[in-house]
Amino acid sequence: MAQHKITLLPGDGIGPEVTASVVSIIECAGVDVEWEKYFVGAEAISRFGDPLPADVLESILRNKVALKGPVTTPIGTGFSSINVRLRKTLDLYANLRPVKSMPNIITRFEDVDIIVVRENTEDLYSGLEHEVVPGVVESLKIITEKASTRIARFAFEYARTHGRKRVTAVHKANIMKLSDGLFLQCFRNVAKEYPNIEADDKIVDNLCMQMVMNPQQFDILLLENLYGDIVSDLAAGLVGGLGVVAGANIGEAGAVFEAVHGSAPDIAGQNKANPLALLKSAVLMLHHIGETGAAKRVDDAIVKVLDSGAEHRTRDIGGIGSTADFTIAMCETLRRGTRAED
Ligand code: NAI
Repeated sequence: MAQHKITLLPGDGIGPEVTASVVSIIECAGVDVEWEKYFVGAEAISRFGDPLPADVLESILRNKVALKGPVTTPIGTGFSSINVRLRKTLDLYANLRPVKSMPNIITRFEDVDIIVVRENTEDLYSGLEHEVVPGVVESLKIITEKASTRIARFAFEYARTHGRKRVTAVHKANIMKLSDGLFLQCFRNVAKEYPNIEADDKIVDNLCMQMVMNPQQFDILLLENLYGDIVSDLAAGLVGGLGVVAGANIGEAGAVFEAVHGSAPDIAGQNKANPLALLKSAVLMLHHIGETGAAKRVDDAIVKVLDSGAEHRTRDIGGIGSTADFTIAMCETLRRGTRAED
């Protein structure tokens, strides 16, 4: 029996290409995984009549871990986002996005190393909207003490277990005194339980300005759902964009690791997709399942491969290589590392 059972959702578009790459790199890193593979999205509708069949959810609840490729969401019509459904159904309340500068990915900034923690379940994403009278609509922003406290605790626990020094809560409590005020108050209450970790806060507009002026000053950022959505993409842009940044959605019932980019239909099936973002998500997953040695080997190999020539990097990050070129270079680097240790 394999050491780990993990649910695998390859998704569509470039999803199957990048997940196949990451699965083989994890194997080259020597991690023993049995993958339980499921269709989701349009493929699952044509086969089973549901974009997110019940056995997918059961598999994630059983294994407690999933690796997921991007899934196309039809615009305007068709099924609603399976990403949102997954987060809501499994109560994956914490969205984690580490944003770190990498070698040979040229950006305006060096040495960025920020962890963005986003609350995933409420705020303006509650979907509570209605028309009051023709021409007037209302969207409800829901903030609760329970959700604000557990996400603050998640951020401080992350800081404690990963040797981080500061958590900055981001808000607009000067204007939304009740809702953002509650989020901020919960943050301050939880901060008292962690006297060794610095706690401060910033108003979201000021934070955005400072992120593009001097991003190196930030350590962990804690945000409500909507500010988190916007600021996490801004942060990704500081280190090379969505093609290189990892993501995870974590709750008590399980954790789903996925890249933040979409299904990139414009390059699907052409061996051009960059697996790096999903691979970085898989590194987070390896840490999560206790494979810290393998996580470090893969992280070190990424640095070496990115540094080893344009033919091993895909075009979106200035290389001339293909998905397969990157994958082969990663596996060779990992195998060389293992032989050197023997
Ligand atoms: P996208 O992220 O798929 O593509 C934007 C641009 O980035 C495209 O030019 C694409 O070629 C490029 N790109 C994205 N990932 C890349 C990679 N790994 N390697 C190289 N180039 C890459 O965003 P778009 O076009 O807005 O969305 C396409 C579909 O993906 C939509 O149906 C959307 O709903 C879905 N989507 C799914 C997500 C998920 O399942 N987690 C997240 C975001 C979007």
